[in-house]
Amino acid sequence: MKPMGPIPAWFADEEGMLLIGGCGAASLVDEAGDTPLFVYDMAIVEAQVRRFRDAMPRAVHLHYAVKANPYAPLLARMAGQVDGFDIASGGELDMALKAGMAPDRISFAGPGKRNDELEAAIFAGVTINLESEGEGRRALMAAQKVGKPPRVAVRVNPDFDLKGSGMKMGGGAKPFGVDADRAAALARAMIDAGADWQGWHIFAGSQNLDPLAIIATQAATIALAGRLSDTVGLAPPLVNLGGGFGLAYFPGDDRLDIRPIGVALDSALDSLPDILKGSAFAIELGRWLVGEAGVYLTRVVDVKVSQGETFIVVDGGLHHQLAASGNFGTVVRRNYPIAIANRFGAAPAAQPVTVVGCLCTPIDRLGDKVALPPVSEGDLVAIFLAGAYGASASPSAFLGHPSPRELLLG
Ligand SMILES: Cc1ncc(COP(=O)(O)O)c(C=O)c1O
Repeated sequence: MKPMGPIPAWFADEEGMLLIGGCGAASLVDEAGDTPLFVYDMAIVEAQVRRFRDAMPRAVHLHYAVKANPYAPLLARMAGQVDGFDIASGGELDMALKAGMAPDRISFAGPGKRNDELEAAIFAGVTINLESEGEGRRALMAAQKVGKPPRVAVRVNPDFDLKGSGMKMGGGAKPFGVDADRAAALARAMIDAGADWQGWHIFAGSQNLDPLAIIATQAATIALAGRLSDTVGLAPPLVNLGGGFGLAYFPGDDRLDIRPIGVALDSALDSLPDILKGSAFAIELGRWLVGEAGVYLTRVVDVKVSQGETFIVVDGGLHHQLAASGNFGTVVRRNYPIAIANRFGAAPAAQPVTVVGCLCTPIDRLGDKVALPPVSEGDLVAIFLAGAYGASASPSAFLGHPSPRELLLG
C-alpha cells in the first residue's frame, strides 16, 4: 500500500455519501448530467479569501492568478472577492474582462506575448508585466499602433529563489522576467519612452508549504524592489511580491499556516526602504485560493485484476486531472487524496487497489496502490484538491474523450 495525501478535514458524508457544499456527490452528478465532473464549492474559496484578509496586513492586495481555474462562473465570483487578476494570455484577458474585473486591476505576465496580445492589453488598459527588453520594444510599437501609452511593470528574475518550492520561477537562468541586474535599465528606458510606469512584479516560485521560506523571500523581494527603485529614481506605484502559498496535496504535507507570514509582512511594511513608503503591495495566488474547493468525480467503469493486482478503471483520467497523475510539476509521483464518494468513511478493503483513467497510457494513474473500501462498477471516485490546474491544465483533447463537466456551488 502507498499513502495518499490528506483529505481536507471539512469533508463529511451523509449515510456514506460524500457531501460537497452540503450536497451529496451522486445528486451533484445527476444535476450536472454525467461524470466526469469537477465540483467547485465557492464557500471554501470565500473562506480562503477571509483567511488571507485576516492574516495579512490590510494594505496588501490579493490578486488571483486566473490560470489556476478560469471556469467562467467561478471567475465572475472571484472578481468580487479579490483586488486584481493576473492573466497569462490574450485568451485570459478576454475571460478576465468578461468576468467583470476592472482593466486597471489586471496584470498580464508570461513569456512570449504576441504583438496582437500586447495591442489588446494596451487597448484594454491592463498592466503588462514585461518579461524582456525585446517585449518592452514590442510593447512600445504596439502602443504606437493603438495610440495609447502602455501601462507597464517589469517582471524581475530575482537573484534568489523561493526555497523548497514545487516550481521555481526565479534564481538562476530563467525564461521568466528580466535578470535583476538589467531590470532597472529596462524600467528607465520604458519610462523615458513615455510608458505609464506601474512598478515591479517579482514572482520567485509556487507551491511552497514553508512559512519561513516565504517570509525570507518576501523580505528579499522588498529589499530588491527598494534597490531597483532607487536605481530608477522613481517610486513604484505597485510592488507585486509574487505568491507561492502551497497546498497539502501529498502524504506528510501539513496545511500552510499563513499567520506568521502576515505577522512578518506587517513588520516588513513598517520598516520599508524610503522609496517604497508610498507604494502598494500585492500577493498573487492561484492554487491556494481555489484548489481545496474542487473535487473531481469520476465513475468506475471496470474493476479488473492483473497478476494479483486490482485495477479500478474510471471514466475520467489525466486528460482532465493531469496533476493527480503526477505529471504536472512533480518529480516523484505521489497520491493525491482520493476516496469512493458513495462509500465515504467506509473501512478499507484488505488489499490496496490502483485507480487508473481510461487513457491507453501507463501514466494515467490517479491512485497508486491506495487503501479504498471494496469497489464496484458504477461507484464514484472522488479526487480532492482538484480546484486548481485541473480542467484547464490537462490535455483534454488527447484520445478524443469528452471534456469534463464543471459545476460551481454556493
Ligand atoms: C506569474 C505567476 N503568477 C501566479 C502563479 C500561480 O501560482 P500558484 O497557483 O501556485 O499560486 C504562477 C504559477 O505558475 C505564475 O507563474
